[in-house]
Amino acid sequence: MCGIVGYTGNQEAQEIVLDCLKRLEYRGYDSSGLAIISPDGLQLRKSVGEIAILESKLEHVPGTTAIAHTRWATHGKPTTENAHPFVDCHSEFAVVHNGILTNYMPLREELLKKGHVFTSETDSEVLAHLIEDAQGTDLRSKVVSALGRIEGAYAIAVVQKGKNEIVAARYESPLVIGVGHDENFVASDVTALLKYTNEVVYLQDKEVVRITSDSIEVSDMNGQVAQRESKTVSWSLEDAERSGYPHFMLKEIFEQPKAIHESMLGRLEGQEDDSFFKAKFTSIKIIGCGTSYHAGLVGKYLIEELSRIPTTAQISSEYRYSPVTDSKPLVVCISQSGETADTLAAAKEARKRGCKTIAVTNVLGSAITREADHVIYTRAGPEIGVAATKTFVTQLIALYLLGLKLGTMNNSLSSERRRELIAEMRALPRTVQLVLNDAPIIASLAEKHKKANSMFFIGRHMNYPTSLEGALKTKEISYIHGEGYPAGELKHGPLALLSRETPVVAICVRDHTYEKMLGNVREVTARDSPVLAIGTEGDQDLVKYAEDVFLVPKVNPLFSPVPIIVALQLFAYYLAIERGCPVDKPRNIAKTVTVE
Ligand code: AGP
Repeated sequence: MCGIVGYTGNQEAQEIVLDCLKRLEYRGYDSSGLAIISPDGLQLRKSVGEIAILESKLEHVPGTTAIAHTRWATHGKPTTENAHPFVDCHSEFAVVHNGILTNYMPLREELLKKGHVFTSETDSEVLAHLIEDAQGTDLRSKVVSALGRIEGAYAIAVVQKGKNEIVAARYESPLVIGVGHDENFVASDVTALLKYTNEVVYLQDKEVVRITSDSIEVSDMNGQVAQRESKTVSWSLEDAERSGYPHFMLKEIFEQPKAIHESMLGRLEGQEDDSFFKAKFTSIKIIGCGTSYHAGLVGKYLIEELSRIPTTAQISSEYRYSPVTDSKPLVVCISQSGETADTLAAAKEARKRGCKTIAVTNVLGSAITREADHVIYTRAGPEIGVAATKTFVTQLIALYLLGLKLGTMNNSLSSERRRELIAEMRALPRTVQLVLNDAPIIASLAEKHKKANSMFFIGRHMNYPTSLEGALKTKEISYIHGEGYPAGELKHGPLALLSRETPVVAICVRDHTYEKMLGNVREVTARDSPVLAIGTEGDQDLVKYAEDVFLVPKVNPLFSPVPIIVALQLFAYYLAIERGCPVDKPRNIAKTVTVE
């Protein structure tokens, strides 16, 4: 949800901030812009649409300090006027902002009465005018004074005419500082900076930083200096680039065997610190949004199965509406980015209610890691495509590990079963590779269904959430209406929507749900809907029931969501390709949603 970047150093800033900004385009791409401290004053350039459009219109503007922004519209349409950066009435200060200012309307009215002239409909523009009005002898103190007036979430970077410095601050929106040699950076996400540095400082909520080419000064809003150690990020630039794949999403789907391997590395042997799990948890609640919620739903089934601890999954934004009860469940907060506002708010609420919390995230130092009592990193490497793929599968791995841990700690899991399951987990990278090898078959199935307007995805038990996730991937990137449903529920309403034009993807793996799934497939074919059945290798019978069949390797039913979702990710990807959709940057959505 908007990406911001800033550079100050001894090189020309324009090319560097544009390069970094392109790596943040997954956060929003309605419009973009930059401000450069040039010998001719503060130079502003903006454009509607993707960053490439801005770039194509740009002449070289000299200057070694710049800030830039790529926008995902919340307040005001995607127009050039509403694109960031924003300047004050005298073009003295320029501001880029990611977040939402909830009290901007009264502030705007107050500033209008004072004679300020606004050029956009956005909430963010008030910041430039507040800074212009602020008391203070230097940029830092003016920014702090302006931030004192606002409510809401922000990550901002501010520059001032004639000064080679950037002042940045954050509250509930992500911001990292990149540490270079004779140059320093700020960005919404470390992936933007990997070409230049992997040394980063994570700014914390309500901290402000002043950076120049050779200094980084972090302080709180009262000016109290904060000592912040830099951390070295293990991700490489290659991890964050397409490496020859046409889309990040396809690259990330194909990286899944490696990602699964990495996320299990050193963890199956139980060498990790167990102290957090010594507490006795009598119930568990898993929260997340979108794909992370679907991982949580799979987690519900597997954790109950392995540990016998009653477990529920809930959408993060709904958590606050559940009543406070006497029991204090262990709350597992899943967020690949670690910055999703709904999940952060739920994690804070859980702490307020006195619950112990675990964060499952892919991003080192992300906000959720500071909210949680314990963190499980998914180790998937950077995920740039808006559609979550490898982070979903590694979230499942984290949940399998958690289930094994809890089951072992409370003796629900025999050592023999544990050994068997661990052996199966070790085989998962190979299993996923076998599915990937069949990508051409899935591409031809997608070609067949490319004209569909609506599709159903059905499954039972562990694969009910898989059906939800398959449907989400499909709607998100191919713009086909995809609806995931528990297979047994079709007859309670949705059958009315089925016809020859409504394909149904049915997950019919050989487990205890198989016979019932075949019954559901018959219900569907009786309504003329073409069925694509996803089954288990060696199943000769499915072809008798379904128009098309795709088989995945046989695994323990507990792990079947892993190969199946890989097949469904590929199906959604090829549908989107057939329909000419912008796979990595689907319309109207952003990878990280930092507003509630
Ligand atoms: C997944 O393809 C989506 N882009 C979306 O549902 C995503 O999973 C959701 O916004 C949660 O993000 P998070 O995992 O970073 O919290």
